[in-house]
Amino acid sequence: MEKKNIDWGNLSFGYSQTDYRFIANYENGAWDEGTFSTDPNVVINECAGVLQYCQACFEGLKAYTTEDGRTVMFRPDLNADRMAGSCERLVMPVFPKERYIEALKELVRKNYAYVPPYGTGATLYLRPYMFASSPVLGVHSADSFQFRIIASPVGPYFKNGIKPLTIRVCDFDRAAPHGTGHIKAGLNYAMSLFAITDAHEQGFDENMYLDSATRTKVEETGGANFIFVTKDGTLVTPKSSTILPSVTRRSLLYVGEKILGMKVEEREVYKEELADFAECGVCGTAAVICPVGKVVDHGKEICFPSGMTDMGPVTKKLYDTLTGIQMGRREAPEGWIYEVEI
Ligand SMILES: Cc1ncc(COP(=O)(O)O)c(C=O)c1O
Repeated sequence: MEKKNIDWGNLSFGYSQTDYRFIANYENGAWDEGTFSTDPNVVINECAGVLQYCQACFEGLKAYTTEDGRTVMFRPDLNADRMAGSCERLVMPVFPKERYIEALKELVRKNYAYVPPYGTGATLYLRPYMFASSPVLGVHSADSFQFRIIASPVGPYFKNGIKPLTIRVCDFDRAAPHGTGHIKAGLNYAMSLFAITDAHEQGFDENMYLDSATRTKVEETGGANFIFVTKDGTLVTPKSSTILPSVTRRSLLYVGEKILGMKVEEREVYKEELADFAECGVCGTAAVICPVGKVVDHGKEICFPSGMTDMGPVTKKLYDTLTGIQMGRREAPEGWIYEVEI
């Protein structure tokens, strides 16, 4: 199959329509066999659960072209598991893991023409999502659901190269203890839009959310987990039951410890410790890692020694190693790379 005539190098990180999407419906207690459709529109009842009470969750992962021309996905099993957790918490039916991974593979195959070539900086972003499709009026779970996966070629998250971010300590909370911070519910993102719009208006790139119970511990941003590097080279990531278990962060911890021989710690990180770290970054599927140069806490600036122009050296090593694995330039740990035979 020929690749589309797309200016791959100038793609931004946004939605563009591709030829196929996977659609499965859950009705009368069972998932149907699912189809690949060319219709990008969703038609649902005006009172569908998703429209009234936001009963919806999603995932995000990527397919890549490797240096030797293979098409691969990175750890889709972890997305399937995480989405199963989201569904359970939101009283939605789990889409079976084997079918989930098979549907992802087949969707990539069908949209192969849109998988960006190696070296363009672009990738095929995959977005599985599920929503309540049957009508509800009183507050209760719907009984019919739709599971979809869409694919969209995307450019690098940061167009002008990787420039360290300025982040503010946020006065809004993202997640409550025993709430939904650990799952990928659409509602978590709806309610973060006010805070991120406000942050941008104030000149900040992102929000640093604190734990809502004590407001002393670092949680995450609206769409990425934090990583820190101590002055003696230890990789530290916040441990919390109210942050999303990032696939990228879990992979970086493994890369740090098992491949780069670093000391790694997953532990509570106090806001008061921020000034002690040598490097800081945010990590997620979209950007892999983006360095943080500065955190502003109500006017008090905490500047990391890695500065405002480049990624710190340890962050860079982690970034190069993980992207090397994703792009097939270095050997992957067992089970991380799922090849899509075209
Ligand atoms: C709130 C939040 N935290 C962290 C992440 C990073 O997770 P992952 O590395 O699995 O993309 C995301 C993105 O999915 C997110 O939305």
